[in-house]
Amino acid sequence: MNFHVLTIFPGIITSAASGSILGKALEKGVIGLNAIDIRDYATNKHNTVDDYPYGGGPGMVMKLEPIYGAIQSLSLPEGSPLLLLTPQGERFDHAMARDLASHSALALLCGRYEGIDDRVRDLIPVREVSLGDFILTGGEFAALAIIDAVARFVPGVLGDEESATEESFATGLLEYPQYTRPPEFMGQRVPDILLSGDHGRVARWRREQSLLRTLQKRPDLLETADLTEEDRNFLEKAKSGQIPDDEA
Ligand SMILES: C[S@@+](CC[C@H](N)C(=O)[O-])C[C@H]1O[C@@H](n2cnc3c(N)ncnc32)[C@H](O)[C@@H]1O
Repeated sequence: MNFHVLTIFPGIITSAASGSILGKALEKGVIGLNAIDIRDYATNKHNTVDDYPYGGGPGMVMKLEPIYGAIQSLSLPEGSPLLLLTPQGERFDHAMARDLASHSALALLCGRYEGIDDRVRDLIPVREVSLGDFILTGGEFAALAIIDAVARFVPGVLGDEESATEESFATGLLEYPQYTRPPEFMGQRVPDILLSGDHGRVARWRREQSLLRTLQKRPDLLETADLTEEDRNFLEKAKSGQIPDDEA
């Protein structure tokens, strides 16, 4: 899958994506990353990419012409999404990441300053996407988070394909707690069941922990999660306090 990021700070994108899992995926060629410098498409000799807002007010606004030129330079497969990163967009989540990963290419347009001249929405079909209800200094940080989350669904990016299927949200629930060695540290023990070697009991315990965590931290997810009869009975017991403390 190929990611194309339109930005006035391409170095932020390339340096952040060069390490760890994304870096390895890039080396293997499982994903591609193309950081396009919008400034290369500026139309005056000073390479200006921003200007004062009409109507006055603080800050600068990103100009349309360089952005339009940078987008025109892309040659993407038909139907590839172009995301406009903005705090005003639809909220990015796990389902959107999985859906975006089904495309062979994804373009991401990063704003800076007070944002981009609003006419971009009229000129080019963009999907406006937000990372959440807060303001970043630039779309690059949102683009990187989205690339990272989407890339995890691209086959070959994660070493163990299983890890993408068991994680929080993948099943509609939060993930069960994880532990590693040593079995005891400063009096804190790993739950005995995980040391038992009984895979069936471990699997059931993990499911129950997943249900409990979701009930405690994100009960809203239970409304749409895929639950079995056994899960529902367990949750009823948990809600009425029938789960012993050492299990809960
Ligand atoms: C300082 S912000 C501009 C905010 C804009 N003036 C507003 O109030 O909506 C600069 C850029 O950062 C990016 N950005 C900021 N917060 C974001 C968020 N929550 N999600 C996605 N992108 C964001 C956008 O690309 C935005 O154009």
